[in-house]
Amino acid sequence: MFGGKGYILRGSVSLALVIFILLMLTTLLASEETPLRASLCDVQLCNYAKGKCVRDKKRPLYSGYECKQWLSSMWACRVMGRPDFSFEGYRWQPQGCNMPLMQNKTIAFIGDSLGRQQFQSLMCMATGGKDSPEVQNVGWKYGLVKPIGAPRPDGWAYRFPSTNTTILYYWSASLSDLVPMNNTDDPPRLTAMHLDRPPAFMRTYLHRFDVLVLNTGHHWHRYKIEGNHWVMHVNGTKVVEGEFLKDISHAKAFTIHSVAKWLDAQLPLHHPRLKAFFRTMSPMDWNTGGNCNNTVPLSRGSEITGDDGSMDATVESAVNGTRIKILDITALSELRDEAHISGSKLKPRKPKKTASNVTSTAPTVNDCVHWCLPGIPDTWNELFIAQI
Ligand SMILES: *[C@@H]1O[C@H](CO)[C@@H](O)[C@H](O)[C@H]1NC(C)=O
Ligand SMILES: *[C@@H]1O[C@H](CO)[C@@H](O)[C@H](O)[C@H]1NC(C)=O
Ligand SMILES: *[C@@H]1O[C@H](CO)[C@@H](O)[C@H](O)[C@H]1NC(C)=O
Ligand SMILES: *[C@@H]1O[C@H](CO)[C@@H](O)[C@H](O)[C@H]1NC(C)=O
Ligand SMILES: *[C@@H]1O[C@H](CO)[C@@H](O)[C@H](O)[C@H]1NC(C)=O
Ligand SMILES: *[C@@H]1O[C@H](CO)[C@@H](O)[C@H](O)[C@H]1NC(C)=O
Ligand SMILES: *[C@@H]1O[C@H](CO)[C@@H](O)[C@H](O)[C@H]1NC(C)=O
Repeated sequence: MFGGKGYILRGSVSLALVIFILLMLTTLLASEETPLRASLCDVQLCNYAKGKCVRDKKRPLYSGYECKQWLSSMWACRVMGRPDFSFEGYRWQPQGCNMPLMQNKTIAFIGDSLGRQQFQSLMCMATGGKDSPEVQNVGWKYGLVKPIGAPRPDGWAYRFPSTNTTILYYWSASLSDLVPMNNTDDPPRLTAMHLDRPPAFMRTYLHRFDVLVLNTGHHWHRYKIEGNHWVMHVNGTKVVEGEFLKDISHAKAFTIHSVAKWLDAQLPLHHPRLKAFFRTMSPMDWNTGGNCNNTVPLSRGSEITGDDGSMDATVESAVNGTRIKILDITALSELRDEAHISGSKLKPRKPKKTASNVTSTAPTVNDCVHWCLPGIPDTWNELFIAQI
């Protein structure tokens, strides 16, 4: 079984079904065509980005206290002392449904910290948030080891021996190839950011992935790019001063189109094993002046209907006409502004002692980018699993 313990959902509707299937995987795979499979609706009719947000008594899928093995405490709003948790009790109900197959699969997330949230969410979902000593850390197989002096490795990879499923995450905020530059004026240490070249990690390990989920978006700001000392390159040479920097959204679109084009050209070489997804941008709440303090679920409505395209036109157009599938989570996540980390100003529960042993006033977190977990990235994963 997938992860073994916990994670039991007895729901009847499609999303719950997907989770149930994860649990029953072994049995299902062992039997022949099941009625379950036969009753799945036509994929043509499914649009995972449309649907509605409904209350679900079986939520949350795991405990934000318990999932310590995978979940960063800064994203575990229960640990961080958020007072309201009504946001945990909803799920997304799309029209679609499909059969996930996870056994013997390697599922890779490559992207920014929102991709890392989705990765941690999937680990918690797969284990029901319970400690799972049987899960193997196989990061070394992908070169994901903590360099000396670094705060953390560039990613993580874990294998579930019972299903031979590996889930991994690699941090690539921009989905471009970052190569240290040979500059002597140190500091700052400059890094060439090759907008037309996917990260080396992706080129190296693509042949070992069965499913790949890409995302980028939140690092495409002048201050982040300059702050990281990233120097944009195209065609192997530094771009003309200002050409992309004066319009970062152009650089972002150029990069997203480049990586999608590269990946699409690779897919036939890995067919039919490899399935690729590009997740649309996670909405951030600038509307409230960066003060996403709503705590009332569904105050923005509960439903997405209509035939409009994705709210993320860049990703939508980049994958249009390719074999890459869109994982369109923007609109449904935007309904859920109350589930960002900072609905209330959070402070870590146990104030940290500083070097001088003075109890510091914990800085108030006002994070309108990341999501509390359990929470919205769980929904992204349900949509993702349903589409594998
Ligand atoms: C695990 O899955 C891989 C394919 O992803 C396969 O090559 C390997 O034989 C499997 N190992 C076991 C022990 O089932
Ligand atoms: C997983 O891999 C093992 C070993 O290669 C194989 O026996 C088994 O049938 C595979 N399962 C699936 C669902 O492919
Ligand atoms: C980096 O600089 C060193 C010393 O100036 C030089 O020998 C080397 O060839 C340079 N490498 C590249 C890739 O430019
Ligand atoms: C990169 O090279 C291509 C083809 O040679 C050219 O069309 C394009 O303008 C170049 N881009 C930049 C930014 O130099
Ligand atoms: C929420 O944020 C808005 C906009 O910044 C502000 O006007 C309002 O007073 C805040 N409400 C609470 C309860 O903090
Ligand atoms: C996708 O590409 C087709 C053909 O180029 C075009 O007609 C269509 O408008 C595009 N759709 C989107 C959503 O960009
Ligand atoms: C901080 O506290 C520790 C133990 O409580 C003590 O050993 C240390 O000397 C203290 N440091 C300072 C700067 O007061």
